[in-house]
Amino acid sequence: MNLKEHVIEAFEQRFGERPSTIIRSPGRVNLIGEHTDYNDGFVLPLAIDRAVWLALRPREDGRVLAYSQEQPEPTDFALRESQHTNSGWAEYVKGMARMLLDAGYDLTGWEGVLTSDVPVGSGLSSSAALEMAVGRAFAAVSNFPFDGIKMARLGQQTENEWVGANTGIMDQMISANGRAGFALLIDCRDLTMAPIPLPQETAVLILDTMTRHSHTDSGYNERRESCERAAAFFGVSHLRDVSLAQFEARAAELDDITRRRARHVITENDRVLAAVQSMQAGDAATLGRLMNASHASLRDDFAVTNAQLDEIARLAQAQPGCFGARMTGGGFGGCAVALVEAEMAAEIATAVAAQYQSAASLIPHIYITTASSGTATL
Ligand code: GLA
Repeated sequence: MNLKEHVIEAFEQRFGERPSTIIRSPGRVNLIGEHTDYNDGFVLPLAIDRAVWLALRPREDGRVLAYSQEQPEPTDFALRESQHTNSGWAEYVKGMARMLLDAGYDLTGWEGVLTSDVPVGSGLSSSAALEMAVGRAFAAVSNFPFDGIKMARLGQQTENEWVGANTGIMDQMISANGRAGFALLIDCRDLTMAPIPLPQETAVLILDTMTRHSHTDSGYNERRESCERAAAFFGVSHLRDVSLAQFEARAAELDDITRRRARHVITENDRVLAAVQSMQAGDAATLGRLMNASHASLRDDFAVTNAQLDEIARLAQAQPGCFGARMTGGGFGGCAVALVEAEMAAEIATAVAAQYQSAASLIPHIYITTASSGTATL
């Protein structure tokens, strides 16, 4: 049974009728452009074929009641009186409701069931997928248009103001606005987007190390603070506005940590733009080299990889038929992404899985993904 049938059946069992609305909201994998979004920079993610599914019907009493197939407890709250209870996934539902209310949306309540095959804490944006599903649910029952940019901003606000993770806007933007068959170049300053095709006869592999992160841990917020310090040093609001030449001219004046963090962001922005050019030229080899360089920069300068991410990226990079590989998402655990020859994808996945298992004593999950469309009702 696929997840759509599964969520409809679960809804019918709980509520005794068909849902009025069914929503699919995808996770994402970022090809390149890591920790650039909150520096007003560029990112190049794609929405993936793994998603949060939500089946629901409206309620007239101003409450939300949501069951998750993956979690023991439902969440049940009055729209205007929601409180933090630190109950994990439910905070994304409550937070999104609160941000919509604060932004002036007139909300109707709903009840429903959700399920997901986006692994939590793996760097594939399970939380953004959930936020965008909730935004889409409110749009459906309250009758307002789902604007992918406005909803992405509210999702980011949910993370920043409700959940306490100081994340950027990439994940919500790609989940809400993804385009089937394409990666999206997103300019995180003005939120313009351009679809960029993958080179022909390539495939995208996701390589899950089976280690996990939490962005409410200090590492993510600390990286952000270093970037803000560096921007202030250069007299700009965001590192986006510092060129490599400007950086190099004054790099020696920075302390070692701030210098490395800034160097990652500044070089990564350049790599994203080079990656777009290589994709437009159908040049998978150059794109792969840029991905490898991105990983090295995230490991050595930004220090957000862990031993398992380094290992799986290294193993992937060493396979014949692999153009490049790097960690993806916030880091500190989770997944890597690789660009490979489509014909060799299955073989590469099998080889890396065996080698990683013996090196890391963990069984990885490695699979081919495809670029899907963004949050939608189906
Ligand atoms: C997490 C955040 C994003 C982005 C990435 C790193 O996924 O949610 O906003 O900062 O990390 O690129």
